[in-house]
Amino acid sequence: MVSAPRWLAALTTALGLPENKGQIMYQLASVDANGNPHVRTVGHRGFVEPEGSPNLPLLMSATDIRTPKVAQLLANSTVEIVWWLSGSMEQFRLSGVVRLVPPPEAQLPSPITKVSSLAIDKLDAQGFEWEKKRVEAYDGQPPFLRAGFARPPPGNIIESYDIGKSWPGAVPKFADAQNEEEKHAYERGLHSFALMYIEPVEVDWIQLKERPNRRTKFIRKGEDWAEYIAVP
Ligand SMILES: Cc1cc2nc3c(=O)[nH]c(=O)nc-3n(C[C@H](O)[C@H](O)[C@H](O)COP(=O)(O)O)c2cc1C
Repeated sequence: MVSAPRWLAALTTALGLPENKGQIMYQLASVDANGNPHVRTVGHRGFVEPEGSPNLPLLMSATDIRTPKVAQLLANSTVEIVWWLSGSMEQFRLSGVVRLVPPPEAQLPSPITKVSSLAIDKLDAQGFEWEKKRVEAYDGQPPFLRAGFARPPPGNIIESYDIGKSWPGAVPKFADAQNEEEKHAYERGLHSFALMYIEPVEVDWIQLKERPNRRTKFIRKGEDWAEYIAVP
């Protein structure tokens, strides 16, 4: 009988603590085709696991298909995230691979090469509905977040901050759209919205409230997680 890795229990416990309320952002690092590093903040959108494999959890987040990180993730699917939970004074650093789920019609900077790894392969074999989840995640977010995907391409240079005043601040779900403009904004956003599924293979957990401080490393070996106590 397989069970969830201890790092996942530690992370979900930390996320549930009142002192960590709202701390759902982590930093995601990727490297580009030249090996240069890039890092940015992204919002956690939940955990996923293949059916019957609680030992193989993934983290889900979202991005805009037009952002530079997409080309980086396509060039090199290896990523690292770091999550500092200031309330409980814990750091979780997870490294692994990412599966990008773009809109099916998206023009990508380079073709998607199949990332092969245990959890992602299992989800594929189980018929996981990647595109359905993408649309559900797009629909499930609040209108102000949806609006972020209906703007011009992120990173484009504009003449003044005021130009942003003409962009929608909220985009309702298609069924709630009041006019054609809101329907177009909904569709525009859906054409830019992508999911990222990170499959960790190594986790480094630091607990600074413990005296002495604690550091624990988890390394996935086959389907099992080996655990080591390390010098903080
Ligand atoms: C608090 C916060 C949360 C953010 N959440 C996300 C997110 O969930 N997804 C995302 O793609 N960008 C998010 N961003 C913006 C990114 O940090 C980054 O600026 C943007 O995605 C462009 O990244 P890139 O140029 O490396 O592709 C967030 C920024 C902040 C400050």
